[in-house]
Amino acid sequence: MEFRTLDGVDVDGRRALVRADFNVPLKDGAVSDDTRLRTSIPTIERLRAGGAKIVLLSHFDRPKGKRVSFMSLRPVVGPLAKLLGRPVGFVDDCVGEAAAAAVRGMASGDVLLMENLRFHAGEEADDPDFAKALAQNGDLYVNDAFSAAHRAHASTEALAHLLPAYAGEAMRRELEALHAALGAPKRPVLGIVGGSKVSTKFDLLHNLILKLDQLAIGGGMANTFLAAQGWPVGASYCEPELEGEARGVLAFAEARHCEILLPIDIVVAEQATPQAAARTRRLGEIDPHERILDAGPATVERLLQAMDKAATLIWNGPLGVFEVPPFDQGTMAAARHAAALAKAGRLVAVAGGGDTVAALNAAGVAGDLTFVSTAGGAFLEWMEGKVLPGVEALKAPRKD
Ligand code: 3PG
Repeated sequence: MEFRTLDGVDVDGRRALVRADFNVPLKDGAVSDDTRLRTSIPTIERLRAGGAKIVLLSHFDRPKGKRVSFMSLRPVVGPLAKLLGRPVGFVDDCVGEAAAAAVRGMASGDVLLMENLRFHAGEEADDPDFAKALAQNGDLYVNDAFSAAHRAHASTEALAHLLPAYAGEAMRRELEALHAALGAPKRPVLGIVGGSKVSTKFDLLHNLILKLDQLAIGGGMANTFLAAQGWPVGASYCEPELEGEARGVLAFAEARHCEILLPIDIVVAEQATPQAAARTRRLGEIDPHERILDAGPATVERLLQAMDKAATLIWNGPLGVFEVPPFDQGTMAAARHAAALAKAGRLVAVAGGGDTVAALNAAGVAGDLTFVSTAGGAFLEWMEGKVLPGVEALKAPRKD
């Protein structure tokens, strides 16, 4: 993959502007999930070991160019310092005299977090002047925020053209994993796409069909495909106005020799509640008041067999209402099987997307997959085959 990394780069005494993604969940003002903070540690440690002064830049939430006190990055300082085992400075602006003075006061190995980039309208506008103001505090730029790489913002795009620019460790791991899954994968490649809405997934399905040998469609979105094939779906979630487009996807897949795996049996109930009586049905057997809430055992078994034959798996979206047992069984069985194969070195298994990560965590296997992306929008846009501006900028000619 062609992107610049920190390998062989002398950072000693240099000011490294590190674009991280500290857009973390907060509960009662405290960080409630530090995954994204932990993700940033290897790059910070590497730069510290090399003697750099580390200046961290991030957005938080969507303050829309205004200073919003409850969107400050300040709550991140404590947990980050704890993870690093050393102090982290904080300055309440990312440009201007306060920022410059804080950076002037840094010694090699120091870590400084700057306030939310999005307090300035220039960030989301990809404003070159704002990027120049940011660049004044750095000698080199490191982008470690894959999850923000779908945004063409000043700190993810323009800034990369003003300083020598490199991918950080987390960005590198992410790009390598994604390349192994869709860029130059070992074949056969199996995809699983689930979740409820098909309306948001047509671009993704089309791009995957071009790249995959088999594509399993599950979750609520499979209902629209079943309806498009003339199967009754009872009171299930369905987007009937999209049946024509769903048939188009099936025809496209046939033309491109990508085999589509739709459910062959279903688990139904009247409500998605833990007390609901869940019944396994063959297609066509659903009653009008019943809803499809999970993949049936035969569907799951066929999917596990497809995984056994695949060399690479790319997975986005659950197969059923996994938050409400017993409708989690299809997703859990698929998660456990993918994890076991990956752990045994028999499958390159890459998964991503908020619900998918939650499902893998619920199954207790997220750590066993080859790679799990915590990026939301960026992961989806990458699966859709879109160009990610933050990644493109790391390929641009170097300015040093
Ligand atoms: C995310 O949480 O997906 C990233 O931090 C991007 O945030 P955004 O959707 O507000 O740009």
